[in-house]
Amino acid sequence: MEHLISLYDLTLNDFQEIFDLAEKLKRQLKEGIEHQLLKNKTLGMIFTKSSTRTRVSFEVGMYQLGGYPLFLSSNDIQLGRGETIYDTAQVLSRFIDGIMIRTFKHSDVEELAKYGNIPVINGLTDLMHPCQILADLFTVYEHKGDLKGLKLAYVGDGNNVANSLLHGCAKVGMDIAVAAPKGYECDKAIISEASSDAKISGSKILLTEDPYEAVKDADVVYTDTWVSMGQEDEKEKRVKLFMPYQVNSDLFSKAKEDAVFLHCLPAYREYEVTAEVIDGPQSLVFDEAENRMHVQKAIMALLMGK
Ligand code: CP
Ligand code: NVA
Repeated sequence: MEHLISLYDLTLNDFQEIFDLAEKLKRQLKEGIEHQLLKNKTLGMIFTKSSTRTRVSFEVGMYQLGGYPLFLSSNDIQLGRGETIYDTAQVLSRFIDGIMIRTFKHSDVEELAKYGNIPVINGLTDLMHPCQILADLFTVYEHKGDLKGLKLAYVGDGNNVANSLLHGCAKVGMDIAVAAPKGYECDKAIISEASSDAKISGSKILLTEDPYEAVKDADVVYTDTWVSMGQEDEKEKRVKLFMPYQVNSDLFSKAKEDAVFLHCLPAYREYEVTAEVIDGPQSLVFDEAENRMHVQKAIMALLMGK
Protein backbone atom coordinates (compact mmCIF):
# COMPACT_ATOMS: atom_id res chain seq x y z
CA MET A 1 0.00 0.00 0.00
CA GLU A 2 1.57 3.30 -1.12
CA HIS A 3 -1.52 5.51 -0.95
CA LEU A 4 -5.12 5.12 0.12
CA ILE A 5 -7.16 6.51 -2.75
CA SER A 6 -9.61 3.78 -3.73
CA LEU A 7 -10.51 0.58 -1.87
CA TYR A 8 -10.26 -1.21 -5.20
CA ASP A 9 -6.45 -0.82 -5.00
CA LEU A 10 -6.25 -2.67 -1.67
CA THR A 11 -5.76 -6.40 -1.25
CA LEU A 12 -7.77 -8.45 1.21
CA ASN A 13 -4.56 -8.69 3.18
CA ASP A 14 -4.37 -4.86 3.39
CA PHE A 15 -7.88 -4.82 4.87
CA GLN A 16 -6.87 -7.39 7.48
CA GLU A 17 -3.66 -5.53 8.31
CA ILE A 18 -5.56 -2.26 8.80
CA PHE A 19 -8.20 -3.92 11.00
CA ASP A 20 -5.60 -5.75 13.14
CA LEU A 21 -3.59 -2.59 13.74
CA ALA A 22 -6.73 -0.51 14.36
CA GLU A 23 -7.86 -3.04 16.96
CA LYS A 24 -4.47 -2.90 18.67
CA LEU A 25 -4.23 0.91 18.62
CA LYS A 26 -7.78 1.22 19.95
CA ARG A 27 -6.94 -1.11 22.83
CA GLN A 28 -3.66 0.67 23.56
CA LEU A 29 -5.39 4.02 23.64
CA LYS A 30 -8.08 2.77 26.05
CA GLU A 31 -5.41 1.18 28.29
CA GLY A 32 -3.25 4.32 28.27
CA ILE A 33 -0.35 2.59 26.49
CA GLU A 34 1.81 4.91 24.39
CA HIS A 35 1.81 4.16 20.68
CA GLN A 36 3.82 6.91 19.06
CA LEU A 37 4.37 5.21 15.73
CA LEU A 38 4.71 8.49 13.82
CA LYS A 39 6.94 10.52 16.10
CA ASN A 40 8.13 13.71 14.39
CA LYS A 41 6.16 13.02 11.20
CA THR A 42 3.85 15.64 9.72
CA LEU A 43 0.52 15.06 7.98
CA GLY A 44 -0.80 17.89 5.79
CA MET A 45 -4.60 17.90 5.72
CA ILE A 46 -6.08 19.70 2.70
CA PHE A 47 -9.80 20.46 2.88
CA THR A 48 -11.81 22.06 0.07
CA LYS A 49 -15.09 20.82 1.63
CA SER A 50 -16.46 20.98 5.20
CA SER A 51 -15.80 18.28 7.76
CA THR A 52 -16.29 17.44 11.43
CA ARG A 53 -15.33 13.75 11.77
CA THR A 54 -12.60 13.53 9.15
CA ARG A 55 -10.80 16.63 10.33
CA VAL A 56 -10.99 15.87 14.04
CA SER A 57 -10.24 12.14 13.75
CA PHE A 58 -7.17 12.67 11.55
CA GLU A 59 -5.95 15.60 13.61
CA VAL A 60 -6.34 13.93 17.01
CA GLY A 61 -5.19 10.57 15.61
CA MET A 62 -1.98 12.05 14.26
CA TYR A 63 -1.32 13.78 17.57
CA GLN A 64 -1.82 10.49 19.46
CA LEU A 65 0.69 8.82 17.14
CA GLY A 66 3.28 11.42 18.18
CA GLY A 67 3.10 13.32 14.90
CA TYR A 68 1.98 16.76 13.83
CA PRO A 69 -1.24 17.39 11.90
CA LEU A 70 -1.22 20.50 9.73
CA PHE A 71 -4.65 21.78 8.69
CA LEU A 72 -4.59 23.37 5.23
CA SER A 73 -7.85 24.99 4.20
CA SER A 74 -8.18 25.68 0.48
CA ASN A 75 -9.25 29.20 1.47
CA ASP A 76 -5.74 29.80 2.76
CA ILE A 77 -3.37 27.85 0.54
CA GLN A 78 -2.45 28.84 -3.01
CA LEU A 79 -4.19 25.76 -4.46
CA GLY A 80 -7.44 27.64 -3.86
CA ARG A 81 -6.10 30.52 -6.02
CA GLY A 82 -5.13 28.37 -8.97
CA GLU A 83 -1.69 26.94 -8.14
CA THR A 84 -1.43 23.59 -9.92
CA ILE A 85 -1.74 20.21 -8.26
CA TYR A 86 1.67 19.38 -9.75
CA ASP A 87 3.43 22.27 -8.02
CA THR A 88 1.52 21.73 -4.79
CA ALA A 89 2.48 18.04 -4.74
CA GLN A 90 6.13 18.81 -5.44
CA VAL A 91 6.37 21.50 -2.78
CA LEU A 92 4.49 19.65 -0.04
CA SER A 93 6.67 16.57 -0.64
CA ARG A 94 9.68 18.67 0.43
CA PHE A 95 8.10 19.62 3.77
CA ILE A 96 5.82 16.90 5.06
CA ASP A 97 5.49 13.11 5.27
CA GLY A 98 1.94 12.51 4.07
CA ILE A 99 -1.16 14.25 2.73
CA MET A 100 -4.81 13.71 3.57
CA ILE A 101 -7.10 15.47 1.11
CA ARG A 102 -10.86 16.02 0.96
CA THR A 103 -11.97 17.58 -2.28
CA PHE A 104 -14.45 17.49 -5.16
CA LYS A 105 -12.64 15.97 -8.16
CA HIS A 106 -11.36 12.45 -7.63
CA SER A 107 -8.72 12.98 -10.33
CA ASP A 108 -7.16 15.78 -8.21
CA VAL A 109 -6.35 13.21 -5.52
CA GLU A 110 -4.89 10.82 -8.08
CA GLU A 111 -2.75 13.63 -9.52
CA LEU A 112 -1.49 14.63 -6.10
CA ALA A 113 -0.31 11.06 -5.58
CA LYS A 114 1.20 10.86 -9.05
CA TYR A 115 3.20 14.08 -8.86
CA GLY A 116 4.31 14.01 -5.23
CA ASN A 117 6.49 11.43 -3.54
CA ILE A 118 4.69 11.02 -0.23
CA PRO A 119 1.62 8.92 0.67
CA VAL A 120 -1.77 10.42 -0.17
CA ILE A 121 -4.95 9.53 1.73
CA ASN A 122 -8.37 10.20 0.22
CA GLY A 123 -10.53 11.88 2.86
CA LEU A 124 -13.55 11.97 0.47
CA THR A 125 -14.09 12.97 -3.12
CA ASP A 126 -17.29 13.26 -5.16
CA LEU A 127 -16.65 9.65 -6.19
CA MET A 128 -15.38 7.80 -3.11
CA HIS A 129 -15.00 7.81 0.68
CA PRO A 130 -12.61 4.91 1.40
CA CYS A 131 -11.58 5.78 5.00
CA GLN A 132 -15.25 5.91 5.98
CA ILE A 133 -15.93 2.46 4.61
CA LEU A 134 -12.87 0.95 6.29
CA ALA A 135 -14.21 2.29 9.59
CA ASP A 136 -17.70 0.98 8.77
CA LEU A 137 -16.48 -2.52 7.98
CA PHE A 138 -14.25 -2.49 11.07
CA THR A 139 -17.32 -1.59 13.14
CA VAL A 140 -19.31 -4.47 11.66
CA TYR A 141 -16.32 -6.79 12.23
CA GLU A 142 -16.18 -5.76 15.90
CA HIS A 143 -19.90 -6.33 16.41
CA LYS A 144 -20.45 -9.45 14.33
CA GLY A 145 -17.03 -11.11 14.67
CA ASP A 146 -16.69 -11.66 10.92
CA LEU A 147 -17.60 -10.04 7.61
CA LYS A 148 -17.69 -12.81 5.05
CA GLY A 149 -21.19 -13.93 4.16
CA LEU A 150 -22.98 -11.02 5.87
CA LYS A 151 -25.40 -8.88 3.85
CA LEU A 152 -25.26 -5.07 3.82
CA ALA A 153 -28.15 -3.08 2.36
CA TYR A 154 -27.49 0.51 1.30
CA VAL A 155 -30.61 2.56 0.68
CA GLY A 156 -30.69 6.00 -0.96
CA ASP A 157 -28.36 8.01 -3.15
CA GLY A 158 -25.75 6.06 -5.12
CA ASN A 159 -23.08 8.52 -3.97
CA ASN A 160 -19.42 8.43 -2.88
CA VAL A 161 -20.25 6.42 0.26
CA ALA A 162 -22.31 3.88 -1.71
CA ASN A 163 -19.54 3.55 -4.31
CA SER A 164 -16.91 2.78 -1.68
CA LEU A 165 -19.28 0.37 0.07
CA LEU A 166 -19.54 -1.55 -3.21
CA HIS A 167 -15.75 -1.69 -3.44
CA GLY A 168 -15.31 -2.66 0.21
CA CYS A 169 -18.03 -5.32 0.48
CA ALA A 170 -16.98 -6.98 -2.77
CA LYS A 171 -13.40 -7.13 -1.54
CA VAL A 172 -14.16 -8.69 1.86
CA GLY A 173 -16.83 -11.12 0.65
CA MET A 174 -19.90 -9.39 2.06
CA ASP A 175 -23.10 -9.41 0.02
CA ILE A 176 -24.27 -5.90 -0.84
CA ALA A 177 -27.64 -4.67 -2.09
CA VAL A 178 -27.96 -1.06 -3.20
CA ALA A 179 -31.43 0.45 -3.61
CA ALA A 180 -31.36 3.77 -5.46
CA PRO A 181 -33.85 5.54 -7.71
CA LYS A 182 -33.28 5.64 -11.48
CA GLY A 183 -30.68 8.21 -12.39
CA TYR A 184 -29.05 8.10 -8.94
CA GLU A 185 -27.34 4.71 -9.15
CA CYS A 186 -23.73 4.03 -8.24
CA ASP A 187 -20.91 4.82 -10.64
CA LYS A 188 -20.79 2.36 -13.57
CA ALA A 189 -17.02 1.85 -13.54
CA ILE A 190 -17.12 1.14 -9.81
CA ILE A 191 -19.96 -1.37 -10.24
CA SER A 192 -17.83 -3.21 -12.77
CA GLU A 193 -14.72 -3.15 -10.53
CA ALA A 194 -16.77 -4.41 -7.59
CA SER A 195 -18.32 -7.13 -9.74
CA SER A 196 -14.91 -8.44 -10.71
CA ASP A 197 -13.80 -8.50 -7.04
CA ALA A 198 -17.10 -10.14 -6.05
CA LYS A 199 -16.33 -13.04 -8.38
CA ILE A 200 -13.12 -13.65 -6.45
CA SER A 201 -14.52 -13.15 -2.93
CA GLY A 202 -17.87 -14.86 -3.52
CA SER A 203 -19.88 -11.76 -2.56
CA LYS A 204 -23.23 -11.15 -4.24
CA ILE A 205 -24.18 -7.70 -5.58
CA LEU A 206 -27.81 -6.69 -6.03
CA LEU A 207 -28.70 -3.35 -7.64
CA THR A 208 -32.36 -2.43 -7.42
CA GLU A 209 -34.80 0.47 -7.25
CA ASP A 210 -36.76 -1.26 -4.49
CA PRO A 211 -35.61 -0.50 -0.90
CA TYR A 212 -37.64 -3.42 0.49
CA GLU A 213 -35.95 -5.88 -1.82
CA ALA A 214 -32.54 -4.55 -0.76
CA VAL A 215 -33.19 -4.60 3.00
CA LYS A 216 -34.73 -8.09 3.10
CA ASP A 217 -32.68 -10.27 5.49
CA ALA A 218 -29.84 -7.74 5.72
CA ASP A 219 -27.37 -7.86 8.62
CA VAL A 220 -26.47 -4.21 8.16
CA VAL A 221 -28.69 -1.37 6.94
CA TYR A 222 -26.85 1.76 5.79
CA THR A 223 -27.96 5.12 4.48
CA ASP A 224 -26.44 8.54 3.87
CA THR A 225 -27.68 12.05 3.21
CA TRP A 226 -29.71 12.64 0.05
CA VAL A 227 -27.88 15.92 -0.53
CA SER A 228 -24.12 15.54 -0.62
CA MET A 229 -21.72 18.45 -0.39
CA GLY A 230 -21.92 20.46 -3.61
CA GLN A 231 -25.53 19.42 -4.38
CA GLU A 232 -27.26 21.98 -2.15
CA ASP A 233 -29.12 23.54 -5.12
CA GLU A 234 -30.87 20.21 -5.83
CA LYS A 235 -32.18 19.79 -2.29
CA GLU A 236 -35.89 20.31 -2.99
CA LYS A 237 -35.95 17.94 -5.95
CA ARG A 238 -33.93 15.30 -4.16
CA VAL A 239 -36.02 15.30 -0.98
CA LYS A 240 -39.18 14.59 -3.01
CA LEU A 241 -37.56 11.89 -5.08
CA PHE A 242 -35.82 10.09 -2.22
CA MET A 243 -38.67 10.06 0.32
CA PRO A 244 -39.63 6.43 -0.55
CA TYR A 245 -36.03 5.51 0.37
CA GLN A 246 -36.25 6.74 3.97
CA VAL A 247 -34.94 4.19 6.48
CA ASN A 248 -37.80 4.07 8.99
CA SER A 249 -38.96 1.40 11.44
CA ASP A 250 -41.09 -0.31 8.83
CA LEU A 251 -38.25 -0.67 6.33
CA PHE A 252 -35.72 -1.55 9.05
CA SER A 253 -38.00 -4.31 10.37
CA LYS A 254 -37.54 -6.19 7.07
CA ALA A 255 -33.85 -6.70 7.85
CA LYS A 256 -32.70 -9.52 10.16
CA GLU A 257 -33.86 -9.21 13.74
CA ASP A 258 -30.30 -8.51 14.97
CA ALA A 259 -29.47 -6.14 12.10
CA VAL A 260 -27.42 -3.05 12.88
CA PHE A 261 -27.88 0.43 11.46
CA LEU A 262 -24.98 2.49 10.11
CA HIS A 263 -24.73 6.05 8.76
CA CYS A 264 -21.49 7.86 7.96
CA LEU A 265 -22.96 11.09 9.43
CA PRO A 266 -23.83 13.93 9.28
CA ALA A 267 -27.43 12.66 9.41
CA TYR A 268 -30.66 14.51 8.73
CA ARG A 269 -33.36 13.00 10.91
CA GLU A 270 -36.77 12.43 9.30
CA TYR A 271 -35.20 12.65 5.85
CA GLU A 272 -32.93 9.69 5.00
CA VAL A 273 -33.49 8.10 8.43
CA THR A 274 -36.05 8.51 11.19
CA ALA A 275 -34.97 9.36 14.73
CA GLU A 276 -36.54 6.09 15.83
CA VAL A 277 -33.99 4.11 13.81
CA ILE A 278 -30.84 6.22 14.15
CA ASP A 279 -31.39 6.81 17.88
CA GLY A 280 -32.70 3.27 18.44
CA PRO A 281 -30.96 0.33 20.14
CA GLN A 282 -29.66 -1.22 16.91
CA SER A 283 -27.86 1.90 15.71
CA LEU A 284 -24.05 1.88 15.88
CA VAL A 285 -23.48 5.32 14.39
CA PHE A 286 -21.35 6.72 17.21
CA ASP A 287 -19.15 3.61 17.49
CA GLU A 288 -18.80 3.93 13.74
CA ALA A 289 -17.75 7.59 14.04
CA GLU A 290 -15.26 6.77 16.82
CA ASN A 291 -13.75 4.01 14.70
CA ARG A 292 -12.84 6.54 12.02
CA MET A 293 -9.99 7.58 14.28
CA HIS A 294 -8.71 4.11 15.17
CA VAL A 295 -8.82 2.91 11.58
CA GLN A 296 -7.21 6.06 10.18
CA LYS A 297 -4.43 5.85 12.76
CA ALA A 298 -3.73 2.37 11.43
CA ILE A 299 -3.79 3.65 7.84
CA MET A 300 -1.41 6.52 8.65
CA ALA A 301 0.96 4.25 10.58
CA LEU A 302 1.05 1.70 7.75
CA LEU A 303 1.59 4.32 5.03
CA MET A 304 3.82 6.82 6.80
CA GLY A 305 5.62 4.69 9.38
CA LYS A 306 8.03 3.12 6.92
N1 CP B 1 -18.49 11.00 7.76
C1 CP B 1 -17.69 12.04 7.51
O1 CP B 1 -16.77 11.97 6.69
O2 CP B 1 -17.97 13.14 8.26
P1 CP B 1 -17.38 14.61 8.07
O3 CP B 1 -17.94 15.16 6.79
O4 CP B 1 -17.84 15.35 9.27
O5 CP B 1 -15.88 14.52 8.00
N1 NVA C 1 -22.17 11.77 0.78
C1 NVA C 1 -21.82 12.76 1.76
C2 NVA C 1 -20.87 12.18 2.77
C3 NVA C 1 -20.45 13.12 3.85
C4 NVA C 1 -19.51 12.52 4.83
C5 NVA C 1 -21.18 13.95 1.05
O1 NVA C 1 -20.38 13.75 0.13
O2 NVA C 1 -21.50 15.08 1.41
